[in-house]
Amino acid sequence: MNDAAKLIYDGKEYVFPIKRGSVGPSVLDISRFFQESGAFTYDPGFTSTASCESSLTFIDGDKGVLLYRGYPIEQLAEHGDFLETCFLLLYGDLPTLKQKNEFVPLITRHTMLHEQLIRFYQGFRRDAHPMSIMVAVVGALSAFYHDSIDINDPKQRVLATLRLIAKMPTIAATAYKYSVGHPYVYPRNDLDYTSNFLHMCFSVPCEPYDINPVLSRALDRIFILHADHEQNASTSTVRLAGSSGANPFACIAAGIACLWGPAHGGANEAALRMLQQIGTPDRIPEFIKRAKDPNDNFRLMGFGHRVYKNYDPRARIMQQTAHEVLNELGVRDDPLMAVAMELEHIALNDEYFIQKRLYPNVDFYSGITLRALGFPLSMFTVLFALARSIGWIAQWKEMIEDPRQKIGRPRQLYTGAAPRDYIPLEQR
Ligand code: CMC
Repeated sequence: MNDAAKLIYDGKEYVFPIKRGSVGPSVLDISRFFQESGAFTYDPGFTSTASCESSLTFIDGDKGVLLYRGYPIEQLAEHGDFLETCFLLLYGDLPTLKQKNEFVPLITRHTMLHEQLIRFYQGFRRDAHPMSIMVAVVGALSAFYHDSIDINDPKQRVLATLRLIAKMPTIAATAYKYSVGHPYVYPRNDLDYTSNFLHMCFSVPCEPYDINPVLSRALDRIFILHADHEQNASTSTVRLAGSSGANPFACIAAGIACLWGPAHGGANEAALRMLQQIGTPDRIPEFIKRAKDPNDNFRLMGFGHRVYKNYDPRARIMQQTAHEVLNELGVRDDPLMAVAMELEHIALNDEYFIQKRLYPNVDFYSGITLRALGFPLSMFTVLFALARSIGWIAQWKEMIEDPRQKIGRPRQLYTGAAPRDYIPLEQR
């Protein structure tokens, strides 16, 4: 096998070392190309560019495979739990029983929010989108926890990581409680991570709240599915922000802002709105027609992916989870589920979607599931952010600990005006 690739540019030959991953495509190391040739490479949207080395997550988009530290997502979703997944992503291996018993209380001791931070919420309008609150409150953690923002101190990095994992459910639940006008509910550390989140979201002081273990397990699985996903837009945002030396909470706030967009994490909310807009299976052809029309910017939300050119394995698990949740809640004929299943069937048999290799992604069935669990649409992307925080912080940690880490600074193909002289105002 070759260990170098050659390129002729402007009559001169350049040799690029080839780096091979443990699985998946190799990369051509072009990092010295500009220095040697004076030219940049051009790849808008990073469709062919690896921005870093990482040992966290691997996707085989053609086969529809997703691995966290080598473990297939299906096995983690079936047998694992979210905190175990957090440990795996952070430290590279599944925890032993002893490690797990030490890790879980480390998280739970940080679940509360600084009381003054809770007052911060009151500055928002009640109808603020909870994602806007998330961006602000997570960014504001750096104003409240000064002892965990020195990125050069490994102990502070650990503390910031534990705080983030522990406080995200509390921050998200508080955003929800604020939006519905309920009193803020304190965390209960005797509950597991996801049951505690359900408790903070749905319990009220005036009556007991019983956690349904089937629903709690389903949500925990949804968190596992969203935990990490290679160098997606929000993760790359976190890495880019972190590459300047910004504190971890500021970096995660940047990631949340990026996730919010409808092409990324905002797609779960958009997908459910689309299903509601379609309403009944008989209207599906009209929407399929629009999705295929090059002059209409409508897209099937929850469909297509930059990397998966096959069924997103998370979508399959999400579909099973949706059925499980609806069944547990005694919902026999959910009209949106009927629309979603028929839409999927029609799209998967349509030449346009077959040819472009567009399949349902994780967001297609997640909205139906989250709605059935009792969350309003505006909370869907918040739940994605909560779960993805572990991926963001684990990727940030990997970057900070990499001795080759440099500030991220893409180049450009400049197409603006050539140099010209300033013209005094009266002569213009
Ligand atoms: N509906 C209709 N056509 C589509 C769709 C769709 N959902 N997705 C892609 N296409 C078409 C697109 O019009 C383009 O056609 P053409 O080659 O004729 O111009 C072709 O497929 C390739 O699309 P692209 O936009 O160049 O692909 P991309 O890799 O840049 O975008 C994507 C990936 C996920 C942004 C896109 O598929 C999309 O907008 N999907 C809907 C939003 C969505 O569900 N996002 C969630 C992604 S998974 C969760 C996450 O990672 O956040």
